Amino acid sequence: MEFNVKNGSIEKQRTGCVIVGVYETRRFSESAEELDRLSEGYLSNILRKGDLDGKVGQTLLLHHVPNVPADRVLLVGCGKERELTERQYKQLTQKAVQVLNETGATEAVSFLSELHVKGRSTYWNIRFAIEAIQELLYSYNEFKSVKPETKRELRRVIFNVANRKELAEAERALVHGQAVTLGISFAKNVANCPPNVCNPAYLAKLATQLAEDYNNITTTIVDEKTMAELGMNAYLAVSHGSENPAYLSVIEFKNHPNPDAKPIVLVGKGLTFDSGGISIKPSESMDEMKYDMGGAASVYGTMKALAEMDLPLNVIGVLAGCENMPDGNAYRPGDILTTMNGLTVEVLNTDAEGRLVLCDTLTYVERFDPELVIDVATLTGACMIALGAHNSGLMSTHNNLAHDLLNAAEEADDKAWRLPLGEEYQEQLKSNFADLANIGGRLGGAITAGQFLSNFTKKYAWAHLDIAGTAWKSGASKGATGRPVPLLSQFLINKAKL
Ligand code: BES
Ligand code: MN
Ligand code: ZN
Repeated sequence: MEFNVKNGSIEKQRTGCVIVGVYETRRFSESAEELDRLSEGYLSNILRKGDLDGKVGQTLLLHHVPNVPADRVLLVGCGKERELTERQYKQLTQKAVQVLNETGATEAVSFLSELHVKGRSTYWNIRFAIEAIQELLYSYNEFKSVKPETKRELRRVIFNVANRKELAEAERALVHGQAVTLGISFAKNVANCPPNVCNPAYLAKLATQLAEDYNNITTTIVDEKTMAELGMNAYLAVSHGSENPAYLSVIEFKNHPNPDAKPIVLVGKGLTFDSGGISIKPSESMDEMKYDMGGAASVYGTMKALAEMDLPLNVIGVLAGCENMPDGNAYRPGDILTTMNGLTVEVLNTDAEGRLVLCDTLTYVERFDPELVIDVATLTGACMIALGAHNSGLMSTHNNLAHDLLNAAEEADDKAWRLPLGEEYQEQLKSNFADLANIGGRLGGAITAGQFLSNFTKKYAWAHLDIAGTAWKSGASKGATGRPVPLLSQFLINKAKL
């Protein structure tokens, strides 16, 4: 889909369709009002007959509206004026595109950017429209021998802004929206990719490709031999049972006006498959553990979005690729591992592998002298139990960083909710035989996982995002969500403004 912005008057739009909003009950938006005037009451006449009262997502497609040069007019219900939520706005935008895809219109000019979404500006209306449309149109058909045929006539949506002065922010929204949605689809594609194809080497290949596509990016791959030299024994232990060697990909984006500026580091858990290892998982839904690289996928997607926006920042994205399998060589419950920072860990459950891969990666990134580090991981089932599928879990030892992330989450409508950390939780990680155990019992499982990681992040400002509930959807609409690419991209956009 192609997107554009413009500032034009509705009576001059020679296009396949103009899209305008109608609030409840039968209240015209500014542009609908204008069309009604132009057509000498044609629209109000129709509404009076009861064909549309303005409920969210209702649509009415009209042809040959008098004095209107556009081939069609699509009226879209917008609910109660000034009560329109982001979610409803996205839904009605998707509905409009769905309806137009069933027509012969190849281009539409949308006047929905003028809607009053609670607490949002034109900038956000355009960004959310792009995100909602790309979400609707996404499908993953890489491995289907017959690609599903969908009728998609609509090729171009132009967002109209009411005022010339809004053009600059509209253009910014266009650039940001397109970059973020590209990052989201890149993240979805790699996450949806099956685990016999998307293994750690595949993640490393994608990371390397980014460096070929963008001048500002250099990628370094750390292999198991180097990891062994560095003493990344916790990471390596997880990989031991797998035939597919682990690779840590380091994607460096350098574009800060001060080249020596400390980098922002994003670390993604990249378990391309998590069987649980010797503490093997139940077989039900085990296929979904291909999504255990959702953190790495979102870091990769965010680096893509960042490179597209070319923000003036230094950012390093790290993909911690690994596979957790049961095998004669696999690590076992009872093993004691010496991590890269020297702390020893007693393995009480080989399914708590993400924190083992991450703890060494978090030590590894100390070498970059980071301004801050954010790790993103499908870390615990407990986080899904705590927050459901709508909020990612945020844990942080730095309040400023936590607030910046919560703000970005709110702005991007990619929600996160903070959970606590603290010494009480540290006690749950006591081991009789090592410095730490790798599990902390049933209570507060998302928190004890975050607390475990905090033992390895003392050298920098750090936050942890547990995306176990948000990275993918199960059931009939099974598929990657691309979250938290919107949150992370917004965090970086905000950083670039400072
Ligand atoms: N990748 C899983 C977490 C997960 C499970 C995410 C289901 C999404 C859906 C992680 O490696 C894991 O297995 N965690 C264990 C930890 C436990 C053994 C302390 C869990 O959550 O059960
Ligand atoms: Mn696991
Ligand atoms: Zn896992």
